[in-house]
Amino acid sequence: MRKTSLFIILASLSATCWGDVEILHWWTSKGEQKALDSLEHHLLQQGITLNHSSILGGGGDTAMTVLQARALAGNTPDIAQIEGPSIKAWDEVGIVHTINETAKKYRWDEHLYSLTIDINKTSNGYIALPITLHRLNWLWVNHTLLDQLELTVPKTWPEMFQAMEKAKQKNMIPLAIGEEAWQIAMLFESLVLATGGVDFYYNALVELQRDHIDSEQMRLALRQLRKISSLIEAQHPNQKWDTATQALIENKALFQLGGDWILGDLLASDVNVPQEIGCYPAPQSHNAFLYNMDSFIFMDASDFTQQQALQVADALADKNFQAKFNRIKGSIPVHTDISLSGFNPCQIQSHHDFIQATEKGLAVPSMTDSMAVNPVAQQAINSEIFRYYRNSDVSEDEVIKRIISIAKST
Ligand code: BGC
Repeated sequence: MRKTSLFIILASLSATCWGDVEILHWWTSKGEQKALDSLEHHLLQQGITLNHSSILGGGGDTAMTVLQARALAGNTPDIAQIEGPSIKAWDEVGIVHTINETAKKYRWDEHLYSLTIDINKTSNGYIALPITLHRLNWLWVNHTLLDQLELTVPKTWPEMFQAMEKAKQKNMIPLAIGEEAWQIAMLFESLVLATGGVDFYYNALVELQRDHIDSEQMRLALRQLRKISSLIEAQHPNQKWDTATQALIENKALFQLGGDWILGDLLASDVNVPQEIGCYPAPQSHNAFLYNMDSFIFMDASDFTQQQALQVADALADKNFQAKFNRIKGSIPVHTDISLSGFNPCQIQSHHDFIQATEKGLAVPSMTDSMAVNPVAQQAINSEIFRYYRNSDVSEDEVIKRIISIAKST
């Protein structure tokens, strides 16, 4: 028997053992699974066995639908991966355990970033355990292909389009894309940040202000999205983001734009990052930090008591574990007091950029990845943008009109 397995068994025998906990999540890619393995291993050392309910679909829309259906049926998982404002909505439903003892033990009020506190705490105290802080406005660049094209990394969208055109002429995939609504909408978010800047992005896509939605900046971002769609031959319909990352790894695609869960997959595939594939702020957004955050809620049920929830929360709040999990996941820790020693240079840059951006008011939540508006509006807006991307008969005015009517109904 391998030493590590023996260690796990001994550790689990010595810890208080009260059985299995079920976690509902959407971590199914190679890097995500590796991070999850570290979580499972860590809990097992405390005598807690994890059962997975993995729901396919990055961004978590499907997982959230499943969570709602299960709550309605009175069959909640013990732990659920969750993001942004829906944490507070679940608290209002009244089926979430508070984890204030864990928060006190780990001094979250002092050691979490203030945006982490805002997202995970209500008047009831801490109702979710934050675990990752992801940067979304990253451009991942295949250096081998960039060198072959004799190009430098684009800093603006016009430069980006020139590079994509050149890549296309040489039969490379200019931009590896997840052909799903949330992925295309995330691309659009980066275009809006570039055309309008952080304040504009916030007013248009977080506050959903009509005069910002109905604007020249949004029209320009939409025209650029259409240009991307015309430069990219349909890859695989419904292709997932991690399949797109595979094309980047296999030297087939020049760029991929998206969250640093891509880094998790690159590292899990033993890619040398940033030497082989580099991370750069998405064009025209180098000072901005577009983020989302993963948290866990612990659901109140007869077979999952507050005491059990606290025991799991205590284990997951451990700072060494949080550091390890984020290192694998590609993200950065949600705590101010976790050292980034041993993290990848892309994560160190992300952390540096996050601190700068928060000081300057340039850190903004992602609308398309569940950090800003309610889930119904979010999914409706994402699918309008996706429809526009896929169908060149849809005009900019039509999308804008539709987003305004979604905004009115929220
Ligand atoms: C989550 C990440 C996850 C990504 C892709 C995002 O919504 O925050 O943790 O890796 O979706 O699945």
